[in-house]
Amino acid sequence: MKENFAEKVASTQYPVHELISRRWSPRAFADRVVPDADLRRVLEAARWAPSSANEQPWSFLVATKADPDDYQELFSCLVPGNKLWAGQAPVLMLSVAKLVFEEDGTPNRHAMHDVGLAVENMVLQATAMGLFVHQMAGFEVDKARKLFAIPPRYEPAAMIALGYLGDLGTLPEKLRERELSPRDRKPLTEFVYTGRWGSPSSVVLKGAL
Ligand SMILES: Cc1cc2nc3c(=O)[nH]c(=O)nc-3n(C[C@H](O)[C@H](O)[C@H](O)COP(=O)(O)O)c2cc1C
Repeated sequence: MKENFAEKVASTQYPVHELISRRWSPRAFADRVVPDADLRRVLEAARWAPSSANEQPWSFLVATKADPDDYQELFSCLVPGNKLWAGQAPVLMLSVAKLVFEEDGTPNRHAMHDVGLAVENMVLQATAMGLFVHQMAGFEVDKARKLFAIPPRYEPAAMIALGYLGDLGTLPEKLRERELSPRDRKPLTEFVYTGRWGSPSSVVLKGAL
């Protein structure tokens, strides 16, 4: 795996598109600028995600290292464990969900779901362009809310580091091992049910035989 650090292809139970199997979340990012034009393409992919009632409840705060103040503000919201590595990424973002519908202000139960769809669109587009993305729940939500004047009824969702893959050797030692560990997932039979909660679907049981 060491020689092949860039390749952490998922060993899937069934064949999937290589954009899915080849995507992974690295911590070592190269000191290489992501052109704004490429960043726009990645954000455009997010724009075209599906959403409940086409509400498009996502927003993104974006900063590149070309804007050190903005970048530093986003970086400052990260928890210490993420600060160890995320500052290598040339682009940081914060995804934000609008929790109520534009039209009548009632709760949009699918806001976070839809933000996740937009981010996955972004991630797959980035993967197709040779970029890597690492999402982070580890950030100070209230600090971000204050720092960026995020209005009420908008919820900071996740921080996002984006860039090109870097050298493993640039990471603190305790993170290197994690980078090399194989990627792992629960089997389909643990989360695909039919009829009753917890009852594995025959669709996936058949395949598991
Ligand atoms: C919403 C979300 C939050 C995450 N938060 C963190 C985080 O704070 N720090 C971190 O190092 N990784 C974080 N991750 C990365 C996950 O740990 C990673 O996606 C998971 O282990 C699967 O690995 P893979 O993306 O390489 O397949 C997060 C991922 C997602 C989607």
